[in-house]
Amino acid sequence: MATAESPFAAFAAELDELSAQQLRRQRRTRTTPADTHIVADGRAVLSFCSNDYLGLAHHPLLIDAAKQALDESGLGGAASHLVSGHHLQHARLEQRLQAFTGWPALSFATGYAANVGIIPALVGREDAIFADRLNHASLNDGCLLSRATFRRFAHQDLNQLATLLATTPARRRLIVVDGVYSMDGDLAPLPELLALAEQYDAWLYVDDAHGLGVLGEHGRGCAEYWGLHHPRLIQLLTFGKAAGVQGAAVCGDALLIDWLLNRCRSYIYTTASPPALAAALCVSLDLIEGGQQRRETLRAHIRQLREGCADLPWTLLPSETAIQPLRVGSNEETQKLADRLWQRGLWVPGIRPPTVPVGQGRLRISLSAAHTEDDIRLLLEGLHACAREWQGGTPDYDSAAHSSRLTTGAD
Ligand SMILES: Cc1ncc(COP(=O)(O)O)c(C=O)c1O
Repeated sequence: MATAESPFAAFAAELDELSAQQLRRQRRTRTTPADTHIVADGRAVLSFCSNDYLGLAHHPLLIDAAKQALDESGLGGAASHLVSGHHLQHARLEQRLQAFTGWPALSFATGYAANVGIIPALVGREDAIFADRLNHASLNDGCLLSRATFRRFAHQDLNQLATLLATTPARRRLIVVDGVYSMDGDLAPLPELLALAEQYDAWLYVDDAHGLGVLGEHGRGCAEYWGLHHPRLIQLLTFGKAAGVQGAAVCGDALLIDWLLNRCRSYIYTTASPPALAAALCVSLDLIEGGQQRRETLRAHIRQLREGCADLPWTLLPSETAIQPLRVGSNEETQKLADRLWQRGLWVPGIRPPTVPVGQGRLRISLSAAHTEDDIRLLLEGLHACAREWQGGTPDYDSAAHSSRLTTGAD
């Protein structure tokens, strides 16, 4: 009997094409908690691939808060916020966020959901969006969903942005940027962007997924870093990265928050996240605010890495944040370098198109306050060994011996 062809057979050729271009995605399965030393696919590795920039994802105080709230509040959100899902823990989190940012807040289940819902609630067909070309995919998706005119300016090109703003006939104007660019690690110049927003009567939407916890004396993110408290600023914080949990919140003018509560579809038409996560997040915000020592450790790691990479054949992009991208180039070279490091017991993700522009493949090294000086040294040793191999030397590592130095538990 002939095997019935899959109704999705057309995808097979396209997947093969992705493989041929070194663009096929695959997952590794982690069997240990999110930490710097982990086990994935049965292999003990040192991780430079998480966004847990302060090392809070496995912090005992967060875990205790979640456990206690699980006992008191149960597990599931059970309904959307506007029906019966809004729990006291969510309300407490929003109050805590107001104290943290100085603005009313509305919490979401994820940053992706927030971005794809908030932007279409702010602007529509008669309006225009002006977005940096390197914005995160969730922002781009939100912009497309809004049906507003969607204009993208070259990365950090404020002259181009000013020209676009000066010539738009749109009713409402929304500038959209990342506070810290997720694949480049550089910062959007918020004071200049706000000046343009004022000049052209626009709003400024800033996705601070990678600034929260890392930037500013109290880790309050890019608004604190730049010293801004501005009514045109709409801040999106996400909680799956430095905050070590899950979720997001938009913070801004009280009228804006009330509008979103009434009009943001990804807030209205989804189940509230488990209240225990909100309880853990309140503790996380305390740890972030008092986390000067963690941020100092992170900055020391950034300095150590940048000094140690100076003589590599690949260049680190200019970045003062936890995201330290090492520019490689082609998909093949990027993947080969990531694979070699993995064989040495170092997990550093190779980032390829469409996440970054074609020809700009890179290793996205992400650092955490939970790393040690020795961890950074091991990474630098691995990168230099690869550089020698690339420059014609022979591989000088024994991957099994190397990974046993990194053992974090049985695999
Ligand atoms: C800049 C940026 N915005 C939004 C998101 C999405 O946030 P979440 O993971 O909470 O959905 C990410 C995460 O990858 C991000 O890097």
